[in-house]
Amino acid sequence: MVELRRVTINGNHYYYLFHEIRENGQFKKFRHYIGAQEPDNAMQQKLERDFMEDIKNNPDKYSPKEKQNIIAVLQQIMEKENYISEENFVRLSSELDIPLVNLVGVATFYSQFRLTKPGKHTIKICDGTACHVKNSAALRVFLEETLDIKSGQVTKDGNFGLEVVNCIGACARAPSMMIDETVYGKLDKKKIKEIIGTYK
Ligand code: FES
Repeated sequence: MVELRRVTINGNHYYYLFHEIRENGQFKKFRHYIGAQEPDNAMQQKLERDFMEDIKNNPDKYSPKEKQNIIAVLQQIMEKENYISEENFVRLSSELDIPLVNLVGVATFYSQFRLTKPGKHTIKICDGTACHVKNSAALRVFLEETLDIKSGQVTKDGNFGLEVVNCIGACARAPSMMIDETVYGKLDKKKIKEIIGTYK
């Protein structure tokens, strides 16, 4: 089945068709960039038919050969800027002569790449097993309400970004979170509020 997916980079939308098959026990993913406009139903059906036909005849077209190079370049940008801006995508595309669609396709495939500007402080609330059984989900909701954002977003003033992660290596002190490089454990709502206050 083909899915229509939307990727948003710095407020701009990019639409892809996405298809996944299992072949010899491995999952193969195919992406096809279709533009910045959401297609209507008739157009979407046509695009999906063409996409499926093309995958049969030319599967490599949707698995960029330059993938390893692209990953290396994107990692460099992440090291310097901590996210990949739309300007950087466009600049790389033209300087390296790699189609924009390939760059964005690789960047959105791997969770190591961030496409939005991070907050001044990054809060990582853990929802790994040890934290989950100690009610970390309720703490995540509390953080979202306190900061007035959802996980994955940045506060309006740019001070905090919130992420949910799997384990920060502080299971013995669960439930835990990190702010930047500092780990906080044995959390409850009162303690979270106090900690947040020290970063304002
Ligand atoms: S599961 Fe939360 S710190 Fe390990």
